[in-house]
Amino acid sequence: MSDGKKREGFSSGLAVFFATLGSAVGLGNIWKFPYLTGVNGGGAFLLVYFICIALVGIPVMTGEFIIGRRGRGNAVGSFRNVTGNPATPWRFVGVLGVLSAYLIMFFYTDVAGWVYFYFFKAATGQLAGITKEQVGPLFKAVVGAGATSLRGAMSPVLWQWIVLALVGSAISLGVRSGIERITKTLMPLLFVLIILCDIRALTLPGAKDGIRFLFNVDFSKLTPSVILAALGLAFFKLSLGMSTMITYGSYFTDDNRLINTAVRVAASDTLVSLLAGLAIFPTVFSFGMEPSAGPGLLFMTIPLVFSQIPLGNLLLAAFFLLTCFAATTAMLSIMEVPIAFMVEELKLKRPLAALLNCIIIGSIGATATLSADGSSYLGGIHILGRTFFDLYDHLSSNIMMPIGGLLTAVFVGYVLKSGIVEEQLSNGGTLNNRGLIAAYRFVLRYITPALLLLVFLSTAGVIRL
Ligand code: PHE
Repeated sequence: MSDGKKREGFSSGLAVFFATLGSAVGLGNIWKFPYLTGVNGGGAFLLVYFICIALVGIPVMTGEFIIGRRGRGNAVGSFRNVTGNPATPWRFVGVLGVLSAYLIMFFYTDVAGWVYFYFFKAATGQLAGITKEQVGPLFKAVVGAGATSLRGAMSPVLWQWIVLALVGSAISLGVRSGIERITKTLMPLLFVLIILCDIRALTLPGAKDGIRFLFNVDFSKLTPSVILAALGLAFFKLSLGMSTMITYGSYFTDDNRLINTAVRVAASDTLVSLLAGLAIFPTVFSFGMEPSAGPGLLFMTIPLVFSQIPLGNLLLAAFFLLTCFAATTAMLSIMEVPIAFMVEELKLKRPLAALLNCIIIGSIGATATLSADGSSYLGGIHILGRTFFDLYDHLSSNIMMPIGGLLTAVFVGYVLKSGIVEEQLSNGGTLNNRGLIAAYRFVLRYITPALLLLVFLSTAGVIRL
């Protein structure tokens, strides 16, 4: 850093791996991935998803690592440093990343609040013996649906603030004592908990129907829009296109092998998604329930099915705990984008930056929480045809992240000096991997941008596939 102070970073390769995996693993794994896989043709969808990970996910992630580790700065500073031009227009990709981080945090902290609340309820035994008739109204109550007064609508907002306070205090501890220590502890625990849930789920009678639902290969379901859904999922899953991986890359050790890390993180993240699917679907099928969509599956089905099996209450708490872990490590990485920006660009102290971000996210994010359901307190307000909640989600996931990813691919593929790309991928020439680097550059220049352009144009409604 220019003031001569050594910039803090991760201490080892293991720390790099767990922090980056902690960012990738999140709420997306627990409900989005299993559900999308199940309804979109099972194994056939998985195959397309793997191809998207290989041709878009891993190349863009590696590209962000290159910018971050060479730039050794926040989202904006890294672009300045790698181009050597303080006024480079590419720094606006970093600005876009900071803005996307806020939008994602506005609604992500809301859903995380529900997960924390459910964990609290499960851990205190309040979900024991819950019935089919009770799960729906409970979910509605937890998200604040139907509240007619602001006071009555505040409970999920308070949980959102609790989540923010936790994430804010953890992150103000710093890169090493905060992010590194927490992700290194929580990620292995998450694996243990998820495998525990898998063992129980897979030994239930009828579990094989769930496995069939998840892995059944049905190529007839592979329409173009399903392929686009797989690409979009790969993008959100791997935290790409909003400078998270640039910011984290700036904390990587010099000897970290970037392509290798991207491959290992993508593979492990997919493994977590599959393990989550294997915990959810056998259980759902074993109890003859509908594998319904999205948050409903997680919040309405899981309490019910776990409450009916031996050791269910304990497993239910374990399941929500691991979901809390996943959401928390993802939020640390989202929040780090504006924090690093404020610390380095605006010269704020880290705890002050954390506090400021909690206030911004807590106040604007409350509008997402208060509009999560059509009958929520602010659920009737529509901007550009969407509620606050949907607007933040749509703007970030469907518009800003794809643009950010496309620009990143173009920047690393065409604008950044090829010497820098080679230096970063070969760790200053110490790795003998010229063939791999050539293959990487080819994919990044020609295949990744073309695929991303396709998704973006179609989600923006410009082309119809
Ligand atoms: N990858 C995270 C998940 O699956 C979400 C996320 C998006 C995290 C963008 C960081 C940045 O839940």
